[in-house]
Amino acid sequence: MADYTEDIRLAHLLADSADAITEERFRAQDLKIETKPDHTEVTDADRSVEKTIRSMISSTRPRDAVHGEEFEDTGYGPRRWIIDPIDGTANFVRGVPVWATLIGLEVEGEMKVGLVSAPMLGKRWWAGEGLGAWTGRSLMKAERIHVSGISSLSDAFVSYSSLHGWISSGRGQGFVDVLRDAGRTRAFGDFWSYMLVAEGVVDIACEPELSLHDMAALDVIVREAGGRFTSIDGEDGPFGPGALATNGMLHREMLDRLRPTS
Ligand code: IPD
Ligand code: CA
Ligand code: CA
Ligand code: CA
Repeated sequence: MADYTEDIRLAHLLADSADAITEERFRAQDLKIETKPDHTEVTDADRSVEKTIRSMISSTRPRDAVHGEEFEDTGYGPRRWIIDPIDGTANFVRGVPVWATLIGLEVEGEMKVGLVSAPMLGKRWWAGEGLGAWTGRSLMKAERIHVSGISSLSDAFVSYSSLHGWISSGRGQGFVDVLRDAGRTRAFGDFWSYMLVAEGVVDIACEPELSLHDMAALDVIVREAGGRFTSIDGEDGPFGPGALATNGMLHREMLDRLRPTS
């Protein structure tokens, strides 16, 4: 098995640079906000983080491809960095501190490294294939994380993000029934639901409509923490449609419950 330690180190350096930009811009709230054709918001901070990460990758790993939310794909080859410069832009522009930079590395079609940096939460999570999942402020100050051992939905803590897409995908009734039957529900939203699954605080996180850049980093971290990460239809990997992350024990039941019924 390849050793991804050096790529994890680079992901931390990329996140350090991203954090320097986002922390300052978030505190200043001097953002230029635009609306994209899909009616979602983007700021100059999102673009500046992605540009910075892209230029660091092209100088340190010139042969690696990059896929990010805000700019066209660059390069091609077996190694591809997948970047969401700010996950939770809607929070970022409203002064809510729940947002993060997501950095993933895919090699030959499989996610190998993931890092999520949420500086205003004082949190970073990362994982590499075969190296486990970790949280802490830096590589040197880290503790290993693991998913929960909850096996029944009635005891489970379920977190989701948006309600959008459940009804249009024919899964509305299944989703409402899950919320009714779960032990506890919250909409922690965005990356946070999935990182709480990896930490064993939340047992299930799900969402029917997400893009590759929203999920790539989360996939490795949840799996290396001992959980499962699939599409909402049960396909392995962060390739959609949507995402279902669980501690593993609750995965089959959730796939059955979230099957389209209309
Ligand atoms: C959004 C978040 C959110 C999801 C949206 C995404 P962004 O990402 O992942 O949880 O519901 O579909 O677009 O735009 O804040 O990076
Ligand atoms: Ca966006
Ligand atoms: Ca996102
Ligand atoms: Ca984003």
